[in-house]
Amino acid sequence: MPQTYPPVVPSAPFLWHGGDYNPEQWPRETWAEDFRLMQQAGVTVATVGVFSWVSLQPAEDEYTFGWLDEVIDGLHAHGIRVVLATPSAAQPAWMSQQYPDVLRSDENGVRRQQGGRTNYCPNSPNYRRLSGNIARKLAERYGQHPAVLLWHVSNEYAGACYCDTCAAQFRVWLQAKYGTLDELNARWWTPFWSHTYTDWSQILPPRANAEGLTHGLNVDYFRFMSASQLDCFRNERDILRSITPNIPITTNLMGTYKPLDYRQWAKELDVVSWDCYPNPNHSPSDIAFLHDLMRGIKDGQPFLLMEQTPSSQNWQEINALKRPGVLRLWSYLAVAHGADTVMYFQWRRGRGGCEKLHGAIIEHAGRTDTRVFREVSQLGAELTALGDTVIGAAVDARVGILFDWDNWHALDDAVGPVRNKRYVDTVRKHYGAIYRQNVPVDIVFPDSDFSRYDVLIAPMLYMVKAGVADKIEAFVAQGGSFIATYLTGLVDETDLAFENGYPGPLSQVLGVWVEEIDALYPDQTNTIVMTDGSGSFPCRHIADLLHAEGAQVLATYGSDFYAGMPVLTRSPVGQGEAYYLGSDPDPAFLDRFYGDLLRGHGIAPTISAPAGVEVAQRVKNGQPLTFVLNHNANMVTLDLGNRSYQDRLTGATLSGSITLAPYAVHLLV
Ligand code: GLA
Ligand code: ZN
Repeated sequence: MPQTYPPVVPSAPFLWHGGDYNPEQWPRETWAEDFRLMQQAGVTVATVGVFSWVSLQPAEDEYTFGWLDEVIDGLHAHGIRVVLATPSAAQPAWMSQQYPDVLRSDENGVRRQQGGRTNYCPNSPNYRRLSGNIARKLAERYGQHPAVLLWHVSNEYAGACYCDTCAAQFRVWLQAKYGTLDELNARWWTPFWSHTYTDWSQILPPRANAEGLTHGLNVDYFRFMSASQLDCFRNERDILRSITPNIPITTNLMGTYKPLDYRQWAKELDVVSWDCYPNPNHSPSDIAFLHDLMRGIKDGQPFLLMEQTPSSQNWQEINALKRPGVLRLWSYLAVAHGADTVMYFQWRRGRGGCEKLHGAIIEHAGRTDTRVFREVSQLGAELTALGDTVIGAAVDARVGILFDWDNWHALDDAVGPVRNKRYVDTVRKHYGAIYRQNVPVDIVFPDSDFSRYDVLIAPMLYMVKAGVADKIEAFVAQGGSFIATYLTGLVDETDLAFENGYPGPLSQVLGVWVEEIDALYPDQTNTIVMTDGSGSFPCRHIADLLHAEGAQVLATYGSDFYAGMPVLTRSPVGQGEAYYLGSDPDPAFLDRFYGDLLRGHGIAPTISAPAGVEVAQRVKNGQPLTFVLNHNANMVTLDLGNRSYQDRLTGATLSGSITLAPYAVHLLV
């Protein structure tokens, strides 16, 4: 049974409810009205200061904290706590003017001009100094204020810089990593196209107008940039921590955001928080995956849902409204997967700027007789009434799915066998098959402890880092089921291909050798023909031509010149087994495959539910908290079997066959 976590934000009597508040954009007359309406909406926490740098420091030696004093006091007087942001995500114009080195350079190495946000160089000494300074001022001024709950450092760290300062810093980073230039040249395979470096000074960032095809360089620059931005976070964090050791510190992350390795970031955060803006084509399973990823990066600790839109986004191609009930449904979707807050962007729509049509609790009309205000208020009241029921509850997963940012970069960088590798899509596809069984999943990483799982799925583990194969072998030997797919075990962590054949260091445990890799055109399929006669299933995208070398053959290809060659194998090792899936099947195949596998391990959902009804579970002090989420826009019937439950949201007793309203949520205890 997993542990129950202490509240990730101190003294949480309930799930904090609220969000991003930008009073500096409004005349002070609106503030009193804001505080009053926040109370009405059941807002218990407001994030302030995210982009307030120039409003707090209009010149290097001038500070204007008066307005923020008033806002924080006002919120406090209305019983609303404060997530206090440092403003370092967008520097003021005076700073870029005075210290041009704070400006970021684009992928051609050309220095950008003032504007936008995250337009700073993460290695600029002036940026580090000035962002540290404003963080210190905020901590000194508000660190003892009773309203302040949490530090929100900067906002959505993002992108990359390609300037000369970064280039110089990169060389230092590389020297520490490789020691000698010979070693670097060997690991990066630089004699190819005469790219051998004869002096450290020749190494440049992978700029768009320079070297972009040295894969070792590309993956290292990604690591370096992620680490550089993390250093910016740590710079501010250490200052805040030294002044306010008891206030937890976070920064808001963005799910599967490719440029930053959040597994590394999570180690430096007191608590993970993230901004959930699903793409219009994301299914509930895809959103659940993102929440599980954000819980996984900190090994299961509950996280904060820092932002979601109350109604619509504005930066997608088409920005549909959340249907009535969907805000509540998706808020509990987050909670069911580990969120201990429900927060929004934004409180009040600004009148100008590019977010003036972004969803908000208060829109331009300034009215509260709106659907959105009603839905937010009802949810606020419900979350307050729920008290601390779910705070700190864990998710007890016996299935792990492996995800790795370095792997993602290396895989996408590979030229061949197909251009679009679909790494995240593939991870989500395998995740979806477990999700549809209503079985909890942890997202894990190459450095995670695998021993707590019965099933470990590693889709497209192209890059196998040192030590990982040994951990997988130990996992299998102790009774685990390991599942690998095509495009596994091709390169090591510096992106050099393995010499002993694919799947490299996993060949032993998987008991297969991949001789060739075929790429299929979009309209082309092959078939997975089960050797036991139990069926055949279409497969696409990639087809590994593999040989069983110790593994049993469970299925073979149905057509083409490799018809009859294995496509699905099972290698029994110790107490466990390792599967290799050589091609990309339809979801129906995965449903069946994983259904059988989970049954074999005795892993079953607590309640069996019809399609589109999610049953998710958190566990607190040994007590299961079961979320029933009807993702269907229509009513469905759910059979609770012969158990009876209390719905913690309504107090009603539920048993037998119950009707779920469209987008219904129940929390069964
Ligand atoms: C991000 C940012 C916010 C806002 C929203 C809009 O999450 O943190 O400042 O720009 O996106 O969706
Ligand atoms: Zn730079």
